[in-house]
Amino acid sequence: MCTNHAVAKSLQTRLANDPMLVLNRMASQNGSVNLGLGFPNFAPPNHIVQALSEAATGNNHMLHHYTRPYGHPRLVNILANVYSKLLSITLDPSDHILTTIGAFQGLSSICQSIIYPGDEVILLEPFYSPYKNMLEMRGAVPVYVPLRPYDDGSGQSSANWVFDKKELESAVTDKTKAIFLNTPMNPLGKVFNKEELLEISDLCVKHNLLCVADEVYEWLIYDRKQHVRIASFPNMWQRTITLGSAGKSFSVTGWKVGWCIGPKHLIQVLQNYHFSAIRTSPTLTQEAVAVALEKELPILYTPESYFQTLSKEMEGKRNRLCKYLDNAGFKAIIPDGGYYIVADISNILPRSQENRDISEEATDYRFAKWAVTEKKLCVLPMSIFYSEAHRYLCEKYVRICFVKTDDTLEKAKEILDEWSDS
Ligand SMILES: Cc1ncc(COP(=O)(O)O)c(C=O)c1O
Repeated sequence: MCTNHAVAKSLQTRLANDPMLVLNRMASQNGSVNLGLGFPNFAPPNHIVQALSEAATGNNHMLHHYTRPYGHPRLVNILANVYSKLLSITLDPSDHILTTIGAFQGLSSICQSIIYPGDEVILLEPFYSPYKNMLEMRGAVPVYVPLRPYDDGSGQSSANWVFDKKELESAVTDKTKAIFLNTPMNPLGKVFNKEELLEISDLCVKHNLLCVADEVYEWLIYDRKQHVRIASFPNMWQRTITLGSAGKSFSVTGWKVGWCIGPKHLIQVLQNYHFSAIRTSPTLTQEAVAVALEKELPILYTPESYFQTLSKEMEGKRNRLCKYLDNAGFKAIIPDGGYYIVADISNILPRSQENRDISEEATDYRFAKWAVTEKKLCVLPMSIFYSEAHRYLCEKYVRICFVKTDDTLEKAKEILDEWSDS
């Protein structure tokens, strides 16, 4: 069997039993409250919807046709302005930016064009699970380095999950090509601080590694924490590709507008791949995102900015759901950023596992199936964000999405209240 066929077969088996797909199917069949799905179920801001509507119905009929393959000119221009400011580097819209069909396609294109078969790529666990599939489809080898929680007595926080510097360094071999850094992190909500990023950047410089900085949740930061961009560290610009997502930033996940930002020698490889494999991303949504970013740039970091309004609102939702979960016996790990809460289920496991079967399924997956069946609440098992070898580290955790309407959160509260009563 040729490699491609083997990879396709293994993907088929894996996806047929994929816990996320199975749980979401179960949830939609029995009408569960779904906090497993990782996207908002509320409306985007009016101004971006208006921008799309104007783009579609206005006089410029060219917006209904193909645009520049490497990115719609209006969008790459404003992205260059925004990220020049954020990274303190003067960006060239033609050379330093590629717009993509969501950040997902950017990641996939990086794996297909810059990563090579046999390359080793370091993933910090818990990792956004598509990284693994994308790397394996390319014949590259993910190498896993887990974050582990320490308890400094200040309660459970995503900031308390850390990597061991020595363990990270010893994961590097002469085959290591890159490290994928996701900050804020899905699922943990960890926002890497300057010291941690400095350790990672030192490693990248020392071993000549590429850094894929997946920063799609860059504006979803809580408790006045700061999102720090590794591309702005000394000697990192030339070895970093930063990914962003309009879906996450403007709550329009279905529009699938994303971007890769980096030095010319890397972006050019991506542009060539994009031209050959994807060609052009949709024009109308790129135009509308450009208009929204033009509005956002002068008010960045002010209370009028949608990015600030959104993160403030999400912080409130996070606090409420953490409280509801704690009342029901979960132990929420408070995220500093992102869409998700990871919660420890140890205290409620024995009750949920009364009807435990004898399958080989991970404890957290059995729990999630039980919760969707018996409690009509869908959450995701943490083990899907870990390698097999490190699964033992995560089986007492689940991931819960809080980027939902107040109505959905209240429905979850009713379930959790009833749960704690029983
Ligand atoms: C960490 C991470 N990276 C990338 C993506 C994909 O982003 P997009 O929706 O822009 O394709 C997601 C989506 O959930 C994500 O969580």
